[in-house]
Amino acid sequence: MSDAGIEGVVAHPTYLGHIRRFFIEDDFVCMRAQGIDLETYFGVRFNAERIFFKVRDGEMPPPAHGRPWSQAMVGTFYNWMRDGFTRGEAGCVPVCGVGARSA
Ligand code: HEM
Repeated sequence: MSDAGIEGVVAHPTYLGHIRRFFIEDDFVCMRAQGIDLETYFGVRFNAERIFFKVRDGEMPPPAHGRPWSQAMVGTFYNWMRDGFTRGEAGCVPVCGVGARSA
C-alpha cells in the first residue's frame, strides 16, 4: 500500500505540503490521456470530488497497479477538500546562507 509519506490523517493538509505527493508520473500520463490533469493545483482542485470517490473506492489508481491509497491518504484528501483546497506554501529553502543560523 502506498502512503506517500503520510503516517496518519493530516487534519489541515495543503496541496503543496501533502496532496501533490500523492500522485506519481504514471498517474499524470495515464490521466492526461483521459482529460484529467493530476499534475497541477488547479487540475486536482477542479477534479477533486471525482478523484476522491475513485481513490476511496480503490478504483484508481487501477488495482492492477498495486498501489491503492492508504486510509490516511484518503482521509487527508477529504480534509483538504473540506478545508477549501488550501494551496499552501512551496517551502522556503535558504539561499546563499540567507536565513541560515550558525549553531
Ligand atoms: C491517483 C491516481 C489516479 C486518479 C486520482 C485517477 C482518477 C480517475 C478518475 C476521476 C477517472 C474518471 C474519469 C471520468 O469521470 O470521466 C479515471 C478514469 C480512468 N483512469 Fe484514472 N486515476 C488515477 C490513476 C490512473 C492510472 C495510473 C491509470 C493508468 C492505467 C489510469 C487510467 C484510467 C482510465 C483508463 C480511465 C477511464 C476508464 C475508467 O473510468 O476506469 N488512471 N481516473
